[in-house]
Amino acid sequence: MTISGHAKLAGIAGWPIAHSLSPMLHGYWIVEHKLDAAYVPLAIEPEDFADALSLLPKLGFRGINVTLPHKEAAFRLTTEHDAAAIATGAVNTVVFENGRALGRNTDVHGFLAMLRDSGITSLAAKTVVVLGAGGASRAIVASLLSLGAEKIHVVNRTPEKAHALADFFGERVSAADWTALSGRLAQAVMLVNTTSLGMKGEPPLDIDLTSMPAQSIIVDIVYRPLETPLLVRAKARGLKVIDGLGMLLRQAQPGFAAWFGVEPKVTPQLRAHMVAALEARR
Ligand code: ATR
Repeated sequence: MTISGHAKLAGIAGWPIAHSLSPMLHGYWIVEHKLDAAYVPLAIEPEDFADALSLLPKLGFRGINVTLPHKEAAFRLTTEHDAAAIATGAVNTVVFENGRALGRNTDVHGFLAMLRDSGITSLAAKTVVVLGAGGASRAIVASLLSLGAEKIHVVNRTPEKAHALADFFGERVSAADWTALSGRLAQAVMLVNTTSLGMKGEPPLDIDLTSMPAQSIIVDIVYRPLETPLLVRAKARGLKVIDGLGMLLRQAQPGFAAWFGVEPKVTPQLRAHMVAALEARR
């Protein structure tokens, strides 16, 4: 692939950034659509992030993705936030436009599109349990509410954060203790893990799924490894599972479309490409 002096530029800012799969993902779409464009990793230390964000549009960048630890700083440094950015206080996608840096959070789009891919378009009158109360949890709770979930129980290691999240979203969301988890799972049609438990290098998420109804669905947004201990356990119980790769791919679409003017597709071929990349890095 070659690029010209007119190439459209975007990238992903993080610290560290070498582990990110986003350059490979966006690179796949750039090649697929034969674009004169580049999407590059941008290793930016926290103290340099504000300077970098103001310089990147001057260097010709159309926008960037933002990952750890810059998502909250990106929220503070951008304007015209979408509803998901406001709900999470975090920005993962920046669009530079007419001298402004627009702040978006595409995790809600990513989560909803991932559920739609699995045939889930409504949770009306349903109960869901969400583990974790960080930025990803906030985006997911907002998504679940938009699908009509009647009750969302948020369970977190630090209870204060679960209570703050429940207060933010109102009466359909409540904080529950780990000790109450089994009882909450018994009423739920879905469990979503938004914590880092189960991720490579982290302890597994060790919870008992036996109380969950037979038709329920287990979603794990961890994608390294793709099949987490939680999903292994859920499959052994015969429950339906959704792994974290779909959300990773889907949350990337809006940025690509905004910067490069093409709506990229999530296809089985793309998924296979990314699964192979994950396998190679194990
Ligand atoms: P993200 O943006 O991915 O949501 P985050 O805001 O750092 O990241 O949130 C991480 C979540 O994983 C939090 O809910 C965190 O629990 P605390 O609020 O108690 O910190 C949870 N988490 C991380 N490591 C954990 C562990 N070892 N045990 C239980 N929960 C953990």
